[in-house]
Amino acid sequence: MSIKSDIINALENNRGKPVSGQQLADELGVSRAAVWKAIQALLQEGYNISATRCKGYMLDESSDILSEAGLLTCLRSRGINTPLVFLSETDSTNIQAKRIALEGGQHGTAVVANKQTAGRGRLGRSFYSPADTGIYLSVLLSPKGAIPKPQMITVYAAVATARAIEKVCGISVGIKWVNDLYFNKKKICGILTEATLSMEGGGIDNVIVGIGINCTGSEEELPDEIRSKAGFLGKGGYTRNELAAEVVAQILKYGDCVFPDDVIEEYRKRSILTGKRITYTKNGSPDTGCVLGISDSGCLIVRSDSGDTDELFSGEVSITQF
Ligand code: BTN
Repeated sequence: MSIKSDIINALENNRGKPVSGQQLADELGVSRAAVWKAIQALLQEGYNISATRCKGYMLDESSDILSEAGLLTCLRSRGINTPLVFLSETDSTNIQAKRIALEGGQHGTAVVANKQTAGRGRLGRSFYSPADTGIYLSVLLSPKGAIPKPQMITVYAAVATARAIEKVCGISVGIKWVNDLYFNKKKICGILTEATLSMEGGGIDNVIVGIGINCTGSEEELPDEIRSKAGFLGKGGYTRNELAAEVVAQILKYGDCVFPDDVIEEYRKRSILTGKRITYTKNGSPDTGCVLGISDSGCLIVRSDSGDTDELFSGEVSITQF
């Protein structure tokens, strides 16, 4: 790791408490001038570090910079040693992860960005991805064996992200089928899972799990088309580096894309649609009904107003009343 990463590591571990320049220099085996230089670089990156004569350097409690050094610290402390590509700005982390996959990139590579200029959503939509307020990440999975139930990748991605948010932020989030996460009746996270196919084998070669989380912001800043639906996790008690690292760790827990049965159970428990009236599309026409539950393969089971039981494999539904 670089001096910068080591310093961030030391300051992160002492958030809100000063660490002397001499102590940092001694622990890292570098000169005080090298420590000073690295601190200047971190300040340039936007880290909120204060320097006090006699006391040393202190990372402010409120500092929430998404960075390579901070992410590496949080990933390695979770025992995750896979490659990390950090981009302060990119078109789309899914596009970058796909490019890395096609260039023979390593299984488990995480691509994390502070801003996306062409964030992609499901059903051909765009995903609003402004700087400094969210987490935009993609994990490249290249399982060696067959994927017995590909549809479970999407199911698990939602469960994994919900688990990470709960663990790091201490709040409980629900899943709106297929894989939107909701907090306080607002969408705070969207997930786009994509795959590359093998020409030889005919099966799935690589899976790209793309996750976008709205951490902070205000309703007024949101584009008109998502203002009534989107929300934020909120500030405090966590950093974006920690949350991003935990999401990656949870996704990699089943990086081979073979999932245990309790995943669908947890998805069911977190489902916010069960028992709700919804509108949906059936054979190209709009329909309304009541959600009965989620099937073992992750389909939405709906009792339509005309009395039919429909199983939806994909698409999007709207809740008539929360
Ligand atoms: C949706 O809600 O429709 C899915 C949104 C998925 C957004 C994430 S952000 C990281 C990754 N890169 C993208 O371009 N999209 C996904």
